Amino acid sequence: MRRIGLIIVCCIGMMAACVHKSETPTPATNNGGNNGGNNGGNSNPNPADTGICFSRDILPIFIANCAQSGCHDAASAKEGFVFTSYETITRKEFVPGNADATELYDAITEDDVSKRMPQYPNPALSGEQKALIRRWINEGAKNTTGCSTPCDSNNYLYSTAVKPMMEKYCVGCHNGTVANKGVRLDTYDGVRTAAVNGRMLDAIRHSAGVTPMPSGGAKLSDCQVQQVSKWVAAGALNN
Ligand code: HEC
Repeated sequence: MRRIGLIIVCCIGMMAACVHKSETPTPATNNGGNNGGNNGGNSNPNPADTGICFSRDILPIFIANCAQSGCHDAASAKEGFVFTSYETITRKEFVPGNADATELYDAITEDDVSKRMPQYPNPALSGEQKALIRRWINEGAKNTTGCSTPCDSNNYLYSTAVKPMMEKYCVGCHNGTVANKGVRLDTYDGVRTAAVNGRMLDAIRHSAGVTPMPSGGAKLSDCQVQQVSKWVAAGALNN
């Protein structure tokens, strides 16, 4: 459907980076929306909160799926596209209010797998992620930040708290195609391994000696970190 084209050709041989998760939950659909969509703005409820919030809903998709080394981080900047911040995401071939005229939207919705972003063999973004990005652009691509995120630290089930969090923030860089540091977070076994050996908590707590995660993204909220640590303390079950 779209003219193809150009652009964003990412990482190909380079490190096989650029992997993407295939699905991402919306903040609202997981057990009361405590799946973790948040870039740290728990304390500043925003009136626009019922709508799309850039820092909470949109930026994490780009960070985890596009802004990887070899693809569209600042250093790599494939085809001149950098997807690390509001400023960079919206600065090139980007038309606020018109997703169909916006190159990055064209790329993520490209039917031809050889031209689609994220680049094959990375899975396409989920329908839900594409719809969120479309809506965000068509609503004017506002730079909303500081939005509150429902998060219940008493929910620390794998299925409703931990897994959706991994899918949203981590799986793009830790999966079967790209497993940074050998860490896979797209399967229960992988998540459990990283949890039990302590690296996961060190990474999301930004402890000394471990590269802070999510790499390139904002620190998870205290509530989100608590959800993971409680889940680990309770045995890291597949519950
Ligand atoms: C943009 C890519 C990216 C995202 C998103 C990302 N990671 Fe990573 N992760 C990496 C890279 C690269 C490394 C290797 C860092 C290094 O070599 O020090 C890594 C390493 C790790 C490690 C191993 C740390 C160690 O020193 O043993 C863990 C655990 C980890 N990540 C967990 C996570 C979690 C949990 C998330 C989501 C909250 C996440 N990552 C999101 C890129 C990413």
